[in-house]
Parts: sequence; structure tokens; C-alpha cells
Amino acid sequence: MFSVWPSVLARCEPVDDAYDPSVTGRSIVALPQPVIDALCCPLCQQALDAEGGSLRCAARHAFDVARQGYVNLLTGNAAPDNSDTPEMLRAREAFLEAGHYAPLAELLTSPVPSEVGGLVLDAGAGTGYYLRAALDRLPGAVGVAVDVSKHAVRHAVRANRRAGGVVCDLWRRLPVRAGKVSVLLNVFAPRNGAEFRRVLRPDGVLLVLTPTAGHLAEIVRPLELLSVHEHKLARMDAELDPHFERQERFERSFPLELTRDEVHALVGMGPASRHVDAITLRQRIEHLDEPAQATASVTLSVYHPR
Ligand SMILES: C[S@@+](CC[C@H](N)C(=O)[O-])C[C@H]1O[C@@H](n2cnc3c(N)ncnc32)[C@H](O)[C@@H]1O
Ligand SMILES: [Zn+2]
Repeated sequence: MFSVWPSVLARCEPVDDAYDPSVTGRSIVALPQPVIDALCCPLCQQALDAEGGSLRCAARHAFDVARQGYVNLLTGNAAPDNSDTPEMLRAREAFLEAGHYAPLAELLTSPVPSEVGGLVLDAGAGTGYYLRAALDRLPGAVGVAVDVSKHAVRHAVRANRRAGGVVCDLWRRLPVRAGKVSVLLNVFAPRNGAEFRRVLRPDGVLLVLTPTAGHLAEIVRPLELLSVHEHKLARMDAELDPHFERQERFERSFPLELTRDEVHALVGMGPASRHVDAITLRQRIEHLDEPAQATASVTLSVYHPR
């Protein structure tokens, strides 16, 4: 799709441990072995090994692996306030599975050559929709869905046969060993430049999808939702600059036609839903035309590690 593909990624050759569960099966715990190999103990940073349904480090710190295929490596405090609730996940799943954001998945993944292998980490994976799109495109890759919400991680691994999930906080040190990730996806989710850089291979790539200031303006204005700050991209570049060099930036806008229920789902997907109470929101949505017309407008930024 893009004529200019960063030469760096072309060097992200498939790794030897490319994982095909139909051939190798899952490891004795319900996580793909390449995911276990990439993880480290959140308490002492040592490697983790599978042992009797748990992951353990040499210091005997142990973490249960849920049979659904994820491990909770969140230590200390409870999840931050902005983790996804089951209601938000249901709303997002309904909206995404209806295909409204398929052009976003295509935009995100189409620059990645299909021979790229290794680990694809989706930071703030939500339902795992974009990770699935990436893994569909990269048959030699294995996925890891990272989210602070265990409900999200559970959804994400259910949606992805070739992926494991990790519950952890993107604002803290990631329980991932240095240089293990080939492709790091970040879609409408928090970014931690220093940690993203540490876990990426030197020839890896960071793909960030962000809304533009005009994203869904036709809905945001009448519903009085939070809008995107117009300097968001400049701020993001500045935050990432010590760790990454920006290679490319692509903008994409496309029309959406939505029923009121779909508008409701769309609003329920994001943080905007936390700022307006449910009854007020319903009333405002009732005043929209049906179908409502809106424009999705996003930016894909491609960064290479410094
Ligand atoms: C707006 S959603 C986007 C989800 C998904 N990428 C998508 O676009 O469908 C943001 C996601 O980031 C997660 N999240 C928020 N704060 C986080 C944190 N500190 N650490 C890890 N995940 C976080 C939320 O739980 C949620 O799943
Ligand atoms: Zn440990």
C-alpha cells in the first residue's frame, strides 16, 4: 500500500522460534513459548519459566497463568482508573466486529511486510482487534496482548489463537526482556517511550495510531464529548524523541454511517464515556439524525528505535 516502506523493518526477518500452535501446540502452560521466553519477572526482572501452570523466576516469584492464555504480572496497586471495564469492552467489541474500523486495521498493518516474524506486542490491546489484524498479516509472528485490564486481555487472547496475554501497567517497567519485540502496536492507548524502546529490537518498529483533532467531530460536538488536543502529535513526537526517530506519518479519513446504537457503542468504547453520565448521553444521542454521519480521522506514525 505504501510506496515507502522503512528499510529497517525489512531486516526484521522471521525468527527461528516462529510459532505455529497447530505444529507445536501451546507450552505446558496456556501461553505460547515465545511469549514466555520474552517475559521477565516484574519483581526481580529475571527470566520466567513455566512450572505447573505458573511462571516462576529463579528467585521463586510465581505467577499463575490463566487457562484462557494470559498471566497477570501486575504487582502492587490495583489497576489504574483508566483501565477498560467489561461494559466498555462489550461496546468496543460490538463496534469493531461490525467492521467500522476495518480501514484503521488495514492502515496500521499494511506497511508491515508479511515475512516479518518474531513477537508483535500490542500495548493497550483492548479487545485484541488490531493484534488479530497484525497476526493475520504476519503468519510467522506470535502476539502478546498487553493491557492493564484483565477483562481486555482475556478478550484479546480469545480473539487470537497465536497470542498470549499479559496484564500489566504501561506506565511502569514492562515485564518484558530487552530487545524481544519486532513490532510494537499502540492504538488509542497510553505510550511509554523509554519502555517501548527497551523492549523493541534495534531493528524493530513502533506503529502508533492516534485520532486527529477532527476525529468524529460530527458526534463529539453535539454529544459534548472530550475532543483531541490539536497539538497531540507534536507532543507525542516530543515525548518519543529521546527514544525513537519518526520515519513516516500517514493520515487517513473515511466516512462512517452509524445507527444510534452504534453511536452509543462508539462513545462507550472510549474515555469520553467516563465524562458524561449515561442518561444524559442517551438523551443527546436521541437528538442525532439516524443514521448519523461522522468522519473517522486518524494518523499512523511509524517510529524506529534510536
Ligand atoms: C481506548 S482503549 C484502546 C484499545 C485498543 N487498542 C483499541 O483501539 O481497540 C485503551 C486501552 O488501554 C488500556 N490502558 C489504559 N491505561 C493503561 C495502562 N496504564 N497500562 C496498560 N493498559 C492501559 C485500557 O484498558 C484500554 O484497553
Ligand atoms: Zn522474580
